[in-house]
Amino acid sequence: MKRETVYFDNAATSFPKPGTVADEVCRYIKEVGSNVNRSSYASAYDAGDKVLEVRGQLKRLFNAPDERNVIFAPNVTVSLNMVLKGLLGKGDHVLTSSMEHNAVMRPLTALKEKGIVTFDRVPCDAYGVTSAMSFGKFLKPDTRAVVMTHASNVNGAVQPIAEIGRLCRQRDILFIVDTAQTAGVLDIDMEKMCIDVLCFTGHKGLMGPQGTGGFCIGKRAEGLMDTVLEGGTGSASHLEVMPDILPDRFEPGTLNLPGIYGLSAGLEFIEKTGIKNIRERENALCERFISGIKDIPGVRIVGRDTEGFSCSEEPCGDCPSHDRDERYTAVVSLVFDGMDAARAAFMLEDGYGILTRVGLHCAPAAHRSLGTFPEGTVRFSFGYFNTEEETDHGIEAIGKLCERR
Ligand code: ALA
Repeated sequence: MKRETVYFDNAATSFPKPGTVADEVCRYIKEVGSNVNRSSYASAYDAGDKVLEVRGQLKRLFNAPDERNVIFAPNVTVSLNMVLKGLLGKGDHVLTSSMEHNAVMRPLTALKEKGIVTFDRVPCDAYGVTSAMSFGKFLKPDTRAVVMTHASNVNGAVQPIAEIGRLCRQRDILFIVDTAQTAGVLDIDMEKMCIDVLCFTGHKGLMGPQGTGGFCIGKRAEGLMDTVLEGGTGSASHLEVMPDILPDRFEPGTLNLPGIYGLSAGLEFIEKTGIKNIRERENALCERFISGIKDIPGVRIVGRDTEGFSCSEEPCGDCPSHDRDERYTAVVSLVFDGMDAARAAFMLEDGYGILTRVGLHCAPAAHRSLGTFPEGTVRFSFGYFNTEEETDHGIEAIGKLCERR
């Protein structure tokens, strides 16, 4: 018999997905099956129309300049690699935050080790939040780009993207944002936030299948970015160089069509439900969880202000938001007194069926910034489909774990 489990690992990948996501993946495989851009029969055109429709959904979601500026890639990591390696050149200086995932840090470090770029990490406060003012202090004459996460996958801290974007625009610096933890959960507007390239994944907040993602490239960056991957596109086939047109220039090889069909259903679910409703639901569960555990002796919540707003200033426009609902995503990292994180996570699963992610979450920089390196944390991450009962079960399990300790 299948054991009952409670899934609190939505920051790794959202689960369950809306039922229509699996339906659409199956429909493509069973009923459509054709490639796009390659052939001229009806089902190939139908699939082509669908891909264009999904580009349109993403354009609307992120306020990207055009459907053609929405590029599909296997995931946000590949997107960040393509963007950083395609945009940055010899002698460029780059700024990033101290809260990054390895999806940003590893390509940046590889570029640095090859002698192509130099970079600085802009520090964050005890809650993992940085500011435009802090970024301003690290700017150099040769700073070409800022690349950073919109929200931490370790503690959910949301960064003041709009303010940093404005600073970049004033200084003619490219602004590249990793939205792995925020797409589908927070409002993101490329134009208002001055984002030049927005990298996204399809399988988290966008509720699509794994293997989907990509980037939206803004007008300022589209002519500056070189290709990192080349191959067939189904267009300009007489050429042995990549075509200049978007999205073809950055989409060599066959697209993940089952994934894109599924992603379309995820995006449709988000459009119908509303980002605000999704965020409110996830935040309510997260707040319930925090209220339930914050006074349990033996467990500490990492990098979260559980009492009130962390900024000591009056609204300054430089903080993520003075709206409590937008300061964190629904991600909570825990440290248990006198208990190794891996053991705590094992006991939560073994004794209570609770599924979390433990360790460094592919984000050693963020853990260093929050003071939890190298031990790591036990991370609970809530999704739209979690329930109050599940949340209370999580609270109860933590209480019992701390008692048994
Ligand atoms: N980066 C994902 C996570 O935080 C996979 O779990």
